Formats: sequence, C-alpha cells, structure tokens
Amino acid sequence: MKLEVVLLCSMLVSGVAVAAPKNDNAAMLELADQSRCLTCHDVDETVRGPAWRDVAKRYRGKPEVEDQLVQKVHDGGGGVWGNDTMSSNKRAGMENVRTLVRWILSLP
Ligand code: HEC
Repeated sequence: MKLEVVLLCSMLVSGVAVAAPKNDNAAMLELADQSRCLTCHDVDETVRGPAWRDVAKRYRGKPEVEDQLVQKVHDGGGGVWGNDTMSSNKRAGMENVRTLVRWILSLP
C-alpha cells in the first residue's frame, strides 16, 4: 500500500514537470535580460524597438525569415520598423540570439 502511494506521488510530480514547457516565458525573459535586449524591447509594448508580439505577428507563417532575423539581431540593422536602428548584439552570442528569435517568432 505504502509503495503505491509513493509511486502515485512521484508520478504526479513528474507529470507536472513534463507539463511545464521548456522554453517558458520566464526563462526566455531571463535570457533576453541577460542578453540586454530588454533595454530596447518588451514583449507587449513598443520601446525603442518593436514589441516582440508585433514582430511575431508580422512574420507569422514565414518561418524562412528566421535566419535573416538572427543575422540582423546579431549584427544590428534597421529600416523595417521606423527610422531607429538596432545596435549589434554580438555579445549575446549567435546561439542565444537564435534561441530568442525562435521564441519571439513563436509568441501568440
Ligand atoms: C539599442 C536598442 C536595441 C537592443 C539592445 C535590441 N534591439 Fe532589437 N530592435 C531595435 C530596433 C530599433 C529595432 C527596429 C529595427 C528596424 O526598424 O529594422 C529592432 C528590431 C528587432 C527585431 C525585428 C527585426 C526585423 O527586421 O523585423 C527583432 C526580432 C529584435 N529586434 C530582437 C532583438 C533581440 C533578441 C535583442 C537582444 C539580443 C535585441 N533585439 C536588442 C532595438 C534594439
């Protein structure tokens, strides 16, 4: 009997762990913060750069832009959202930039 209870409990606990998405927003926001994106960006509001939900909306259904956006965020650039430009984010590293761009593009 006791063993069954323990088993059930551990199943419940692992079930919860599996249900939590890997790239959840908190982890991605933390990475964005460490990568210094949040000085110019917010998920919902336009700051210096466009709100990331607007970015996701603009490129919805165009997965081919991912590489282009990764390159642009890494190197910096402008001309799409207004007259301001994004400075380069080389210090964040290509892999982190790719992780963030994927997450941004997947925002509902
Ligand atoms: C110095 C301010 C600044 C920082 C720091 C910054 N951005 Fe930007 N970002 C901008 C501006 C301004 C634009 C709009 C550029 C344009 O009009 O093409 C932009 C645009 C973007 C876009 C859309 C690009 C496009 O062509 O549509 C993405 C995606 C993005 N930023 C992600 C990031 C990520 C991820 C980081 C952190 C690694 C970051 N940004 C850091 C200012 C910034």
